[in-house]
This record gives sequence, structure tokens and C-alpha cells, in this order.
Amino acid sequence: MKQRVFVTRKIPDEGLRMITKTFDTIVWPSDKPPSVQEIIQNAEGCEGLVTLLSDPIGRDVIEMLPKLRVIAQYAVGYDNIDVTFATEKKIIVTNTPGVLTETTADLAWALIMAATRRIVEADRYVRNGEWNVAWGPKLLHGSDIFGATLGIIGMGRIGSAVAKRASGFNMKILFHTRSENEYTKNIKSEFNGTRADFHTLLRESDIISLHIPLSSETYHLLGETEFKLMKQGAVLVNTSRGAVIDENALFKALESGHLGAAGLDVFNQEPLEKNSPLMKLPNVILTPHIGSASIKTRATMATMCARNLIAALNEERPLNIVNPEVFE
Ligand code: DGY
Repeated sequence: MKQRVFVTRKIPDEGLRMITKTFDTIVWPSDKPPSVQEIIQNAEGCEGLVTLLSDPIGRDVIEMLPKLRVIAQYAVGYDNIDVTFATEKKIIVTNTPGVLTETTADLAWALIMAATRRIVEADRYVRNGEWNVAWGPKLLHGSDIFGATLGIIGMGRIGSAVAKRASGFNMKILFHTRSENEYTKNIKSEFNGTRADFHTLLRESDIISLHIPLSSETYHLLGETEFKLMKQGAVLVNTSRGAVIDENALFKALESGHLGAAGLDVFNQEPLEKNSPLMKLPNVILTPHIGSASIKTRATMATMCARNLIAALNEERPLNIVNPEVFE
């Protein structure tokens, strides 16, 4: 008899086909995420679960699924999963690291450039029919990117890919990270990046880009105090997780003009509430968590996720294990 798997959303066909061919599969048919109750109902009796970062897989869900042996996350981040409890229950958790690094770094750069040079505001200005004078000597001034100081918080795969792109812009790179790793060494030697303490980075950077996972340590890492330390007119870009920023404090810092602009792909609550004060600010670019959203990358994430799932349910060691302790 085939093993049973619940897939919480229609992931790209490249991966979904591999799963449906191998297992007795239920695929959640809607774009709207299933509720906790719906996850539990659909995954009842399942050995495998394919999840997205918007599916809360806490103790309450895991406890209700006694046959579950693997949670295969279709994302690199897994802050939606209670990994500690899954490990206790000997459930393997897998993710999709590496394959979305360059695509996410591209989006971070798109936001850096668009926010710093006010591209979205300028586009709105033209479309709204406000462009009535041929050339405005004081129209829509942004800041320079070439030669600016770029502060990167979190120097892992994506942070280092962002730093690499900065080299063409003759930027000074400051980075803040908890520990030295393979990426920090390259950034120092190849791109002349300097490791800085958190406050120095905040004080000296013209543009700051965030590349840290969400954890109890990084929750609201940037709030009122931190925004006050940042330079007048600084630009902030976040393609990591929304909750690393205190959004109310960010709103105030942008509204007051202390921060020049922000480019945000991730939010405390997703989708962003329709009445979020951020919507009212002209100097914020808002994108709907599309960091990894290229056709090729999403397809690769789907096949990677499927391979991890298949390996785990075939009693093999998946390539991308979040909690290797389950094998000890
Ligand atoms: C992730 O993978 O964690 C991103 O946020 C979405 O691709």
C-alpha cells in the first residue's frame, strides 16, 4: 500500500508530479492556506506532510498526527514549524536551502535600487499625470548607491550573495553576524567587507539589508532605538522575515523622514493587512514575499522538497535535513 502524504498547496508541477506518482497524495486545492484544523483533518493518517512557511505546524498539529514521519518544507526558512517538538517525536524536518540564494539576493538588490532611487514613486508620478514640466531640477531626488556604505545584517548564503552584487557599485560593505563562517571569510578577502558590531553598522550604513532567520533572538531586532541610531535618510530593505522588524517603529521612522525609504518583501503579518499604515507611505515599496519567486527557482525548490520527502519516506537520509538529531 502506498504511503499517504498531504501537500498544503499546489507547489510547481515539477515537484508535485514526483510526489503524486510515489504516494497516495491529497493536495489542498485552494490558494488560501488551510487552517490548523484543516491541516489536521487532511493529514490524518499521513506519513508525510509538505508545508509552506504560512502553515503553522506547532505542537498542536504534530500531536494530532501520530503516523507523521517527515515534514518537507517548501522554503529555506522553517520558523513556522516547531522543530524541537518534531525532533522529540522523531519526525524528520527538511527544507530547501541554497537553491533560492541568488534569486532572493536579486530581489534584495531590486528593492535596494528601487527604494534608494525612488523608482516606484517616480512611476506613480508619471502614471498619475503629474509630470507636467519637462525636467525638474529638484524632482524626486534619491540617494547615490555607487560608493555608498551597505550594511548587511546576517552574513550567510543570501547575505553574501547580496555583498557580491555590491562590488560593481564600489560600495563599502559592513556586515554583522553572530559568528565567523565560510561566507564571512570570503566577504573580507574578496569584497573587502568589514565585520562590524551591530550599533556601528546601524550608525554608519547608508543602506541596510536584512538576511537573518526569525528566532526568539531576532524578533523585533530593529525597533525604535535601532532606527534612531540609523543615519538620517538611510534606506532599509527586508527580504528575510517581517517580524525581525517592529513595524510600528518603522512606520514612525519613515513617516518622520528620519529614514529615507524602505523596501519590504516580508511583514509581521502576511498578507499585509489592507489598513496597514505602511500602505499610506510613499517612501515604502511593498512586495508580497516574492524573494524566491522566479520560475526556475520555484521549480527547483519543488523538486528538492519532493526528493527530501521521498528519501525520508523510503528510509533514506534526505539531503536537506533541518534536525539531523533524529538520526542519532
Ligand atoms: C524561504 O524560503 O524561506 C523564503 O522566505 C521563501 O522562499
